[in-house]
Amino acid sequence: MSKSHERNPSSTQKEKRKLFDGLIKSVAGLVAVVVILIGLVLLLVFQPEISARLSTFTSEESTENPQPLTDFSTELVDGKDVETGLLAGDGLELVKAHCTACHSSALILQNRFTREGWHEKIVWMQETQGLWPLGENESIILDYLAANYAPEAPRGRRVPLTDIEWYELKE
Ligand code: HEC
Repeated sequence: MSKSHERNPSSTQKEKRKLFDGLIKSVAGLVAVVVILIGLVLLLVFQPEISARLSTFTSEESTENPQPLTDFSTELVDGKDVETGLLAGDGLELVKAHCTACHSSALILQNRFTREGWHEKIVWMQETQGLWPLGENESIILDYLAANYAPEAPRGRRVPLTDIEWYELKE
């Protein structure tokens, strides 16, 4: 009752194709392995260069005993500081001096925190990134950050207009 396995005429062709597929796959696998090995060798060869580059990238800013900035312009255009894009407001100069010495203002611009949240960031930078004590400037800086970069604040907030010439609407 057990039928012997009958092969149809094309089965040898199928077999061949299978073999061929297998061959292709193993060749592809071999190529992948070789590429990975070459990559690893290159990585090993250039590793000192890469790590040197990485360390200058990360340590230049943190080990060089950073100081507050003293030399910067305070030119405003459209209610924004030209150099940093920070919004005009009380404390802007302090923020520029103390908060753009190690990294760009982008880290401030792209974040939104409450006063408490900003305070936590400052404490974190003081504990881990070499940020100096801010003394009495801290509350001014926090006021500025909380006022201009609070979670609800929309991105494009401009400073209120001054010197507006109002005119009477006529009926
Ligand atoms: C002594 C150097 C230094 C100073 C000065 C400094 N920071 Fe930083 N700050 C850092 C470093 C380092 C990082 C981490 C950067 C990174 O992740 O690439 C950072 C990250 C940040 C971040 C991102 C934090 C996060 O969780 O993603 C914010 C926001 C920030 N700083 C705001 C400030 C503000 C506001 C001030 C001014 C009070 C300031 N920084 C001053 C070193 C400094």
